[in-house]
Amino acid sequence: MAVLRFPPNDEVIDDESEVRARLASLGIDYESWDLSRVGADASADAVLAAYAAEIDEMKQRGGYRTADVIDVKPETPGLDAMLARFDKEHTHSEDEVRFILAGRGIFFLHLGERVASVEVGPGDMLRVPRGTTHWFTLCEDRRIRAIRWFQDTTGWTPEYTGSGVDAEYQPLCFGPAYFGARASGTMTV
Ligand SMILES: [Fe+2]
Repeated sequence: MAVLRFPPNDEVIDDESEVRARLASLGIDYESWDLSRVGADASADAVLAAYAAEIDEMKQRGGYRTADVIDVKPETPGLDAMLARFDKEHTHSEDEVRFILAGRGIFFLHLGERVASVEVGPGDMLRVPRGTTHWFTLCEDRRIRAIRWFQDTTGWTPEYTGSGVDAEYQPLCFGPAYFGARASGTMTV
């Protein structure tokens, strides 16, 4: 379940169909996919096999040629340097397409005059078109596992805008407790 926000007035949208509709109106594809195909400890090959139909369909939708599984944990060597590549506003000459299997992160999308933040977690598929100014950071547990699609992996490098706008936004995640409480209907205030 993704959470869409529009800081600084911080309108919060966490209804799945509304998130999908609002993002679609902004040119961003969002879908919630079934996560039950594989266990949490499945290998990358098992994940790619289990989602082969979705992977092929997405390849046809966007002209993607390859897909892989990225697996980032707090102990991943060079994690800080990796995150520092993507937490500054940038664009790519390729779409950025992710299906989140585990962990959480925030995509900040700079769309015209507005910045939207999309907190993604397990089951969320997000497709950010090439040329969209954006940045990304992990939530506090510094964990993400996702299927990625590529048109050409050699071309997938960040092109920085240098705007500095990323420094104006706090990467605050609601986190799994928020979703767990809402999903079970036991949330209290
Ligand atoms: Fe990016």
